[in-house]
Amino acid sequence: MLEIKNLYVNVDDKQILKDFNIKINDGEVHALMGPNGTGKSTLSKVILANKKYIIKSGNIYFNNEEITNLSTDEIANKGIFLSNQLPCEIDGVTTADFLRTAVNAKEENVSLYSFIKKIQDATKDLKMDESMIHRSINKGFSGGEKKKNEILQMKVLNPKFIILDEIDSGLDVDSLKIVCENINNYLKENKDASVLIITHYPRILEYIKPDYVHVMNDGTIKKTGTYDLALEIEKNGYETYKNNSASIVSE
Ligand SMILES: Nc1ncnc2c1ncn2[C@@H]1O[C@H](COP(=O)(O)OP(=O)(O)OP(=O)(O)O)[C@@H](O)[C@H]1O
Ligand SMILES: [Mg+2]
Repeated sequence: MLEIKNLYVNVDDKQILKDFNIKINDGEVHALMGPNGTGKSTLSKVILANKKYIIKSGNIYFNNEEITNLSTDEIANKGIFLSNQLPCEIDGVTTADFLRTAVNAKEENVSLYSFIKKIQDATKDLKMDESMIHRSINKGFSGGEKKKNEILQMKVLNPKFIILDEIDSGLDVDSLKIVCENINNYLKENKDASVLIITHYPRILEYIKPDYVHVMNDGTIKKTGTYDLALEIEKNGYETYKNNSASIVSE
């Protein structure tokens, strides 16, 4: 599904990612953890070709096709979806209008009826007030409402590869459960879809069981393990991963 090889990325001439490698197969759930400022969000943005992030060397492949030099539009149309850590507000464009345009750009002949049904069902599944889809995207939304609105977009856009950058931050306990149920149902209905969950807490991983947990520090993956690794980090912090050279225990 997604493979990254020897990726080096700079922002404003500062090296953020160094020799970053990961391979995510169809149907797998991977979690990425690591201290603040280590490059997790940078990775998510560079996959989606944000122009601020300059790839110095390395390659990104999606379904064995190199996507390193494609535009954000081209990458999104291949079925890669990013829920940003801080979803942006877009004044004057409603979520419904945005999604209708995005779905039309991706698929032909989606009837207005089936689009409306899909977005209404998604709104209900997420226990969101339907009026929210007719408001400007994220404008005046609470932190948790923005995160639910990201999952609404995921459900309507039907991606194959999903990156969730701190989707759990800002969600109350009930909303976290609803969001995770929706992600799990999506994965049940789309068996080949894969997810990269960027998080600081094992809690979300109790609901969405990861196949692999990676610990990142200083722009690269230092260790790969399973759910227990997330619990170990919760208990002991990141101190032991600061100067380790990469030790990949699985994959
Ligand atoms: N546009 C930018 N301009 C300057 N520095 C940047 C920019 N984007 C990222 N950085 C720097 O790159 C480093 C990595 O940032 P990034 O957001 O990827 O960290 P993170 O691992 O997601 O952290 P957190 O857990 O706090 O979300 C930080 O030192 C950050 O200040
Ligand atoms: Mg981040």
